[in-house]
Amino acid sequence: MNAGSRSSVAPIGVFDSGVGGLTVLRALRAHMPGENFIYLGDTARLPYGTKSPQTVTRYSLQCAQRLIDCGVRSLVVACNTASASALPALRQAHPDLPIIGVIEPGAAEAVRVSASRHIAVIGTHATIAGRAYEQAIQRIAPDARVVARACSLFVALAEEGWVDGLIAEAVARRYLEELFCGPMVPDTLVLGCTHFPQLLSAIRAVVPAGVQLIDAAAATAQTLRRDWRLPVAGEPAQGSVRWLATDGAARFAQVGSRFLGQLLREDQVEIVDL
Ligand code: DGL
Repeated sequence: MNAGSRSSVAPIGVFDSGVGGLTVLRALRAHMPGENFIYLGDTARLPYGTKSPQTVTRYSLQCAQRLIDCGVRSLVVACNTASASALPALRQAHPDLPIIGVIEPGAAEAVRVSASRHIAVIGTHATIAGRAYEQAIQRIAPDARVVARACSLFVALAEEGWVDGLIAEAVARRYLEELFCGPMVPDTLVLGCTHFPQLLSAIRAVVPAGVQLIDAAAATAQTLRRDWRLPVAGEPAQGSVRWLATDGAARFAQVGSRFLGQLLREDQVEIVDL
């Protein structure tokens, strides 16, 4: 797939249910600083993680259409829940548009680093119920053993900024204990939700030492740069980002700054209606 090689061409569209996909955008910009992006956070309708696949697919098709109307040349589905539910429908609706989700790259990276082929996956309720990671992992490694658990409270903790310390660790322990007990524990844990990398230190504190943590955001950025033959990291950061959200510019900017790792101002965020 060759989606062009310079930032002079149309931007890359990135969408998520809200601010979570900013962790993906952050990784994309780190790998491709020369690219221009348009980011759309569907803040009016988040969370996606508690909704049905049909609803998430409908919302995702609307997000994609909005970005296509803005002239993007390719699309990154920067949301695990949307990737799990809507990728086939998105590809069917837009067969000529290069579209990448976060699940395949995260699954491929997990298989690459797991020596025991015993892999744990955590995500939202919708992502785990849809078994998208299990299927993606087992397509690559049919012998892999996958255990999975929805960790819905992590989303709220990440947005609240309670990402480490006693409360975060207690919640992490409650969710993760059962995945890492018994004689044969997984050697790899996939953070299958955009919010979960925010809780890295709390998660590390409760999983056994030596377990590899896979951030699907970083894996997606690497895959995208490789498969779409985009410029390599290290060139000057000259690309721009246009910020779109469907509600709450102030909250998007405030919470988003933390996910993005840089200051985002309310007046930079355009509110759009899908
Ligand atoms: N962005 C979602 C994901 O990665 C998490 C937030 C939500 O539930 O909308 O699954």
